[in-house]
Amino acid sequence: MSNEREHGDPPRRGFFLKFCAGLVGGIVGLFPVITAGGFLLGPILKKSDDGDADSGDGFMPLDIKADALPLDGPPQQVTVVADRVDAWNFYPQERVGSVWLRRTADGIVAFNTICPHLGCSVDYRTSHEDFYCPCHLSNFSLDGERQNMIPPRSMDSLETKIVDDRVWVKFENYRGGIEEKVPV
Ligand code: FES
Repeated sequence: MSNEREHGDPPRRGFFLKFCAGLVGGIVGLFPVITAGGFLLGPILKKSDDGDADSGDGFMPLDIKADALPLDGPPQQVTVVADRVDAWNFYPQERVGSVWLRRTADGIVAFNTICPHLGCSVDYRTSHEDFYCPCHLSNFSLDGERQNMIPPRSMDSLETKIVDDRVWVKFENYRGGIEEKVPV
C-alpha cells in the first residue's frame, strides 16, 4: 500500500500545482481585461441622470420667490436649470426648459412654455391677457385652456411646491401633436 502511495502522489501533486498555477495565471490575466472593460463600458451602462439639482422627487428649484408673484397678476416666464450627467460628462446648471408661472388663490400655477401643438414657444400677450402661440395663431386662457382646436390639448400644466418661499416645479416635457399628455 505504502509503495502505491509513494508512486501515485507525485503525478497528482504535479497536476494540482499546474491547476493552481493555471487558475492564478487566468485570474491575473483577466484582471486588465475586466478593468479595461469596466472603464469603457461603465459610463455607457450607467443610467443617465438629467435631474441632479432636483430634490429626489422630480421637483427642481426655480430662481424665483413665491412672493415675487403677485396674486392674480400677469404670468412670469422662468428658466428651468438643472445639473445634467450623461455617459461621459457632467454639465452643471444647464437650461432644460422654461415655465410660465402665476400665483392664484389655489397656489402657484405652472405651464411648460412649449406649445402642445408642434413645439413652438408660447408667449404671453399683455394686450389680450392670454397665452399666444405665434406659429399657428393659437391662444390659451390664463388657466392654460386652449381657445381653438389647432393645438390637440391645452397647455401642459406642471406641479409646483414652495419650500422656504422658493418656488419648485416638477418639470417635464411632453410629446407634441397628440391629445394625451405623454412625457418624453
Ligand atoms: S405650434 Fe403652437 S399652435 Fe402650432
